[in-house]
Amino acid sequence: MLGRQEDKLCGIFSALAALSFLCFAQSSSTGNSGMSVAKTTVDKLLKGYDIRLRPDFGGPPVIVGMSINIASIDSISEVNMDYTITMYFQQSWRDKRLAYGELKLNLTLDNRVADQLWLPDTYFLNDKKSFLHGVTVKNRMIRLHPDGTVLYGLRITTTAACMMDLRRYPLDEQNCTLEIESYGYTTDDIVFFWQGGDTAVTGVDKLELPQFSIVGIRLVSREVRFTTGETVEGYQFFTPVQQLKAISEPWCPSTN
Ligand SMILES: *[C@@H]1O[C@H](CO)[C@@H](O)[C@H](O)[C@H]1NC(C)=O
Ligand SMILES: *[C@@H]1O[C@H](CO)[C@@H](O)[C@H](O)[C@H]1NC(C)=O
Repeated sequence: MLGRQEDKLCGIFSALAALSFLCFAQSSSTGNSGMSVAKTTVDKLLKGYDIRLRPDFGGPPVIVGMSINIASIDSISEVNMDYTITMYFQQSWRDKRLAYGELKLNLTLDNRVADQLWLPDTYFLNDKKSFLHGVTVKNRMIRLHPDGTVLYGLRITTTAACMMDLRRYPLDEQNCTLEIESYGYTTDDIVFFWQGGDTAVTGVDKLELPQFSIVGIRLVSREVRFTTGETVEGYQFFTPVQQLKAISEPWCPSTN
């Protein structure tokens, strides 16, 4: 009698165990299938992808939207005529080769995938030195959208030249700019624009600098035509206008 009850109990337990195992197996298999769909999708996208050719090669230019979130302005130096800014720089463009219909998800991928994709060769014309933050890994973000839109984010610190007119210091306003261009492509291949228009540069309001105040941000875009004639280059820059607050000590140019 007791033995049979034990048997029954044991049977129930093993049935429960089997059930929970089944549940576990099922949940882990759906997890795996999600992962394998993503894996198949990424594999498919990168297979035969030619990093050397820009999106729509031979066709209309790639439209690259830019936005900047300023984390800090670390210094403004009248002596060196430069300023140092830390920012989150984001670009986005559409690469139809990277469109995937099957998965209705945005795919945030490991930052190393960036090395396998075409990226705009954006550079800062007036930068003296810049670096991409690398702790704990390179501070880059790659996100793909089903329609092939690529979102590419970088955390950068750059020291950029700022030609200051100090004749009326400290009662003057200075325009420090960051000039952004494509290094090698002309406007036939890449056209930049400020994503979100006037709201493309954020974070200005929370900046605090001991001797300066940011008057406002101006976003400008213009085209530069080189003397060689045919080459037209897309040219964009943003202008944090720095106003020097009157300080008690008069400033004298160093004599050495
Ligand atoms: C993907 O990103 C876009 C743009 O940021 C957003 O509008 C959309 O809701 C996201 N889709 C999913 C499934 O999260
Ligand atoms: C800064 O830019 C504004 C607007 O373009 C201009 O009026 C002003 O003269 C500039 N200031 C300096 C110091 O270049």
